Amino acid sequence: MSKKIVGLVGSPRPDGLTNKLVSSALKGAEKVGATIEVVQMSECVVEACRDCLPWICADNLRCTYEDPHLQIISEKMLNCDGVVWGTPVYWGDTTAMVRLLMLKLFRLYARSQSFKSIPAFGIAIAGGSGNGLISGLRPLYHFFRIMWMRGITPLPVTRFDMDEALKKAELSGRKVAEMEKKPFESRDDRDYWYDNIPYLAVSNAEERKLLAAVTYEGLPAERKELVKGSWTSADVLSAAGQTLESMNEISRIYDSSFEKHMQE
Ligand SMILES: Cc1cc2nc3c(=O)[nH]c(=O)nc-3n(C[C@H](O)[C@H](O)[C@H](O)COP(=O)(O)O)c2cc1C
Repeated sequence: MSKKIVGLVGSPRPDGLTNKLVSSALKGAEKVGATIEVVQMSECVVEACRDCLPWICADNLRCTYEDPHLQIISEKMLNCDGVVWGTPVYWGDTTAMVRLLMLKLFRLYARSQSFKSIPAFGIAIAGGSGNGLISGLRPLYHFFRIMWMRGITPLPVTRFDMDEALKKAELSGRKVAEMEKKPFESRDDRDYWYDNIPYLAVSNAEERKLLAAVTYEGLPAERKELVKGSWTSADVLSAAGQTLESMNEISRIYDSSFEKHMQE
């Protein structure tokens, strides 16, 4: 029987950038024989958790309050072999609908480890200034970790590198479909795995540097020439322990690159 990969589109816009990225990942999964399913979360927004007490939902695995959308998504996730979850970045975070769903799924299924070992791939698209491309991913990977899922390298995206990101998404979707459900041996094994996942632990300065590199890459050659020296200056300042001054150089690259992109 073929594997079932579920793609969650965490945007209010069903045909936006998140959808493109999640669809690309699912295309990769489909190419290696998986059956795929897209969930447009905008059509399935769950209610906020009401923190019922006593906390019985973790025992009977059912929300105390009627929430048909939660039921629909839960069933898909409980019966899949891999998850692709995409969110737009809103103020450096996920969208509210993604948060609401994660909190309810935590509440119901964390204790029973119902999603244990499911391969998971998270995508965050910072489609405005590009800020928050990493911080937007963290809640998704916190979710994967707490649920004992097997998160793979995430995909932080901006609107400046969409073409490249679509290709990467396809490869990662394929990887999710090819992975076996391999359980973690212990909590330490799990946390060690997540501590070694790229991007998640970067500082604000490193996030800005990544963003500057992405926006710089998209500049025409003559424009690159104007700010090229700032990369060297940033490295020299950083090596000399002048971290703040180094950050200023990186910001100069980003500001200049962003301004150019805005003119286009
Ligand atoms: C409330 C709100 C907050 C946003 N915050 C950010 C942000 O912090 N960084 C960013 O790059 N873009 C931000 N954006 C822009 C979205 O990330 C962008 O529109 C994205 O493409 C939305 O994904 P979609 O096309 O799938 O809807 C924000 C948009 C909204 C509506």
